[in-house]
Amino acid sequence: MHNLAGESPSGCLRHNRQALLQDLEQLSQTRSTNPFRPGSGILPPLLAGRERETAAFEARIARTREGQPQHTALLGEWAIGKTTLLMHWRRLRQQAGDAVVLSMAYPQSADEFLAGLITAIDAEVATDWPRQLDVELGLDVGVARARIRRPSRDPERELRAALRRLIEHQAHRHRAVIVLIDDVDLLPMTGDVLLRLRACALELYAADLPFALLVAASSGLFDAVRSAHEPLVRFFEPLSLGPLDAGDAIRAITEPVEETGVRFDPEVVGEIVDLAGGRPYYLQKLGYFAFDAAIDERVTQAEFAVAFERAFASVNQEIFAGRWARMSPIDRQVVAVVARSTEPRPSGDIEAEAQRLGVRPSAARQSLHRLAAAGQINRLASGRRGRYAVTDRLFQRYLELQTCEP
Ligand SMILES: Nc1ncnc2c1ncn2[C@@H]1O[C@H](COP(=O)(O)OP(=O)(O)OP(=O)(O)O)[C@@H](O)[C@H]1O
Ligand SMILES: [Mg+2]
Repeated sequence: MHNLAGESPSGCLRHNRQALLQDLEQLSQTRSTNPFRPGSGILPPLLAGRERETAAFEARIARTREGQPQHTALLGEWAIGKTTLLMHWRRLRQQAGDAVVLSMAYPQSADEFLAGLITAIDAEVATDWPRQLDVELGLDVGVARARIRRPSRDPERELRAALRRLIEHQAHRHRAVIVLIDDVDLLPMTGDVLLRLRACALELYAADLPFALLVAASSGLFDAVRSAHEPLVRFFEPLSLGPLDAGDAIRAITEPVEETGVRFDPEVVGEIVDLAGGRPYYLQKLGYFAFDAAIDERVTQAEFAVAFERAFASVNQEIFAGRWARMSPIDRQVVAVVARSTEPRPSGDIEAEAQRLGVRPSAARQSLHRLAAAGQINRLASGRRGRYAVTDRLFQRYLELQTCEP
């Protein structure tokens, strides 16, 4: 039987099905999911680099287990990849059998923060060994949880007790306990909390228990607490997290793209890597918009030009606009002077130029220190006198646009 078009109904069906499959295939290729993950605390598609930092962390844990506890302050600029690394290390150590507690600080009182940490430690105890908890403490987990929720009058003592329970359990199995605290500088009393954590750790040392603390914060952590709490700097050994090197930055872009049907031209990868300057957040952001701009599954420089403007607008909205709004008028003038030159300049030159705009040299100098501590400009040490520059190319462009407006 033939229909009017001279095709059998089954042939027609087959043809439609084939066309549908082709369409679906094309759709799935052109719409391959964007692999990039711009954001905060979001695991990237590929964790590029960080081998040196991971080896240093692992070595400190190994020494801790051998009876020489080493604690760490992981320090780095905004969005450099601190949270990502904490999550990576947590996974590595958990796989090796250690108990890892990850806690995020936010603006709250020291006692509230410690109470939250105790809850997190007890939760680790409860998930890891509910049975033992029943047997060893004669407690039902529900009862234990109810006890935890009660506001504590002496959070330090409770913290010590909670840690000791977890550590002793782990020590039987020759495993360590690692407490990771992210964004510790968001606490209004950072120095106070760090001192209390240190006191707690020192008491546990006496019992020779394998326990390591790691706090993550922005690079200026110890500038703020140094004068008041000198011992902290020696207790929490700094481990700096910087930009990715060019090879790792290239991998961070090319490897996730390879898993998809889309291709980035080599010039595009080069531009992304140059613009990002090793900053992982920019790599994800630029990669994300570049991927979205693909035409026929390919991103050439023409598509990237459009993608760049979108990525830049998105960073402006997320970061730069708020940063600019929070700056004092003097900081705005000084940062604009620094951004005007592509070469790092001595503070004296910057102060002289700012003075022509009506800013006193001493005020300009203080502003330079403030801006550098906040990571908004970079201080490149050369002898005693520092030279300053805005090495962040996206922020530099923002400042250029901001200050050429009438
Ligand atoms: N090693 C890496 N390779 C590729 N991408 C990374 C890497 N590290 C971080 N990223 C990506 O960079 C972005 C910022 O990372 P993250 O939030 O960990 O930084 P942070 O230092 O904790 O920032 P914040 O200042 O917000 O606390 C995220 O999108 C993350 O996926
Ligand atoms: Mg973070």
